[in-house]
Amino acid sequence: MSNIAPQKYGLHLLRSGHRGSQRTSPRLVTANEQRRLRFLSYGSSRLGRLDSKRIIITGGAQGIGESIVRKFASEGASITSMDLNDSVGARVAAEATKAGPGKVSYLSVDVSSKESVTKAFVEATQKMGGLDVMVNVAGVQKNALAHDPPLDVLERVTKVNIWGTIFTNATAFTLMKESGKGGAIINFGSEAGLTAERDNSVYGMSKGAVHTWTRSVAREWGLSNVRVNAVLPYVATPMYYRYRDALSPEELKNHEQLLKEFPLGGNLGDPTRDLAPVLVFLASDDSHWMTGQLFPVDGGHVAVR
Ligand SMILES: NC(=O)c1ccc[n+]([C@@H]2O[C@H](COP(=O)([O-])OP(=O)(O)OC[C@H]3O[C@@H](n4cnc5c(N)ncnc54)[C@H](O)[C@@H]3O)[C@@H](O)[C@H]2O)c1
Repeated sequence: MSNIAPQKYGLHLLRSGHRGSQRTSPRLVTANEQRRLRFLSYGSSRLGRLDSKRIIITGGAQGIGESIVRKFASEGASITSMDLNDSVGARVAAEATKAGPGKVSYLSVDVSSKESVTKAFVEATQKMGGLDVMVNVAGVQKNALAHDPPLDVLERVTKVNIWGTIFTNATAFTLMKESGKGGAIINFGSEAGLTAERDNSVYGMSKGAVHTWTRSVAREWGLSNVRVNAVLPYVATPMYYRYRDALSPEELKNHEQLLKEFPLGGNLGDPTRDLAPVLVFLASDDSHWMTGQLFPVDGGHVAVR
């Protein structure tokens, strides 16, 4: 083997067992074997699917955002997690960094404030050396009667879910466009924005706005190579349990019947097992030809309703 010219025969010199300054004997592997090794390590901690990605995740302290922070860190990303809940957000970031191989920093943000978003996003982008992906998970849900919604609920839901989407998206787009490299933005819609849920019209209206916004800016920003998609989840999180706790006994009975009718599993999904892998795909270059899409990740619920 030592007489074979590596370039001529498509062979590449790999050093196996390389550990810092300690090196064992180099060995030759074929280009095919290299590809096979790369394939086998795909998805493992050795070669993360988000290795070179610099990512902002809002709402990273709990629920879906927390799952995505931990999953993206396990795929090698550089992440800045942001939330209003600073103590929990910072703890999750530290734990995700410890688990590695990615790194997670934490910054406080209120997505409903333009000043807060601009400050946090610029600081995060400077620290990470750029911005490739922004996942806006932060959101609030409150039940309200359509004919008399409390003004504080109307204001909070509208500002966090609609204004928050606009501020985070517009700031991320500006930073991505300035870099000249483009990027990916992922929003959080809801089946409540597609279907008609009793006592949930304010929240549903806000998520319907997220859907329309996502498709509109995908059209506008595609020219700058910035992709914008939205995920419509249905998974068990603190938000879901708060929603469930607010149901009357009769509504709860109907809701439980609805869950039984979910085509996959007859129940809600789990954010880490069922949702986070879809986010990895949308954040990675594997989805580079997809924009303006609304992806229900809900066990088939809205598709067959
Ligand atoms: N759980 C579901 O099944 C479900 C269904 C449809 C849509 N969604 C959407 O998915 C997203 C995440 O939901 P979840 O279930 O994880 O909710 P959650 O309430 O469990 O977590 C939301 C996180 O967002 C943070 N947050 C709220 N307001 C904020 C603000 N102004 N600025 C910064 N952070 C803020 C909270 O502190 C919290 O950490 C939301 O946009 C929600 O509307 C969830």
